Amino acid sequence: MKIKVLVTGANGQLAKTLKHLFLNTNDQIEFYFFNRKELDITSQDALLQSFNKNKYQYCINCAAYTNVELAETEKEKAFLVNAIAVDSVSKICKIYNTILIHISTDYVFDGAKSSPYTEDDITNPINEYGKSKLQGELNIKKNLEHYYIIRASWLYSAYGHNFLKTIVNKIKDNANLSVTKAQIGTPTSCEDLSRFIYYILNTKIAFGVYHFSAKGEATWFDFAREISLSFKSYNQQKLNAVENYKTKAKRPNYTVLNIGKTEANYQQLKHWKTSLKSLISLLG
Ligand SMILES: NC(=O)c1ccc[n+]([C@@H]2O[C@H](COP(=O)([O-])OP(=O)(O)OC[C@H]3O[C@@H](n4cnc5c(N)ncnc54)[C@H](OP(=O)(O)O)[C@@H]3O)[C@@H](O)[C@H]2O)c1
Repeated sequence: MKIKVLVTGANGQLAKTLKHLFLNTNDQIEFYFFNRKELDITSQDALLQSFNKNKYQYCINCAAYTNVELAETEKEKAFLVNAIAVDSVSKICKIYNTILIHISTDYVFDGAKSSPYTEDDITNPINEYGKSKLQGELNIKKNLEHYYIIRASWLYSAYGHNFLKTIVNKIKDNANLSVTKAQIGTPTSCEDLSRFIYYILNTKIAFGVYHFSAKGEATWFDFAREISLSFKSYNQQKLNAVENYKTKAKRPNYTVLNIGKTEANYQQLKHWKTSLKSLISLLG
């Protein structure tokens, strides 16, 4: 019998990457990709109807409120999707015996450390987005035993709005760029994360929290510089490092994730520069 896998938030960059890589590639897995219109995770009725109809073995929750800046003024909206809806999703997973694969974030940490964060490090989010995502994690842990919470960092892809696409567009316009070097983290390709999620679907690893990122670390400036180096016609003098931008949301200074636990289960992690190069070569 086929494994039925629900993917929420299907218009987002991670879900689109999963769909592009894995839809109809495996006879044993039947994916159900639903965007917000097709399945709003804030509607318990819609969730119950969908689970009742399809009896999923797995739910990959890619749906989230992800606008870190706007979350400062739209706290309720962020909590509704990232915490309250995740509470419902996990309760419904419990009823239907569905394994939940939920994506969380490096922003559950305050960034005060100077060495990579492990899964057991104390969480202490410093912005509303991070607080809402942490509450989502806590709700899952309260409701479920059969879950994977994957904390990802600095995601980019060929889809939607993300740092890579913003910088590539500016570079193509030969624009001046000022990019902060105030934060350190790890740029992570949605493709790499999707492959890890797919690995989980196919391999029984222990339930729990996993940190997922590429290898290595970078500032946003390092990330932008590495992107720009792939565009030979871009005048590098136009790219400048700045200390910080003025933003509503505080950003943790250091959110490099310790990926040792993930690596013990999955030996295919790449350096962020390697993954970035392969994606840029596709973007053209
Ligand atoms: N982006 C990052 O740098 C980053 C870093 C670490 C962790 N994460 C986490 O990784 C996961 C995937 O992020 P992403 O970058 O793919 O985000 P994304 O591109 O912003 O996608 C999120 C999707 O969720 C959908 N959504 C919002 N509210 C919903 C609702 N009530 N019901 C159903 N769908 C809803 C959005 O729909 P609309 O398209 O209609 O708005 C959007 O398509 C998220 O959990 C995020 O918190 C992201």
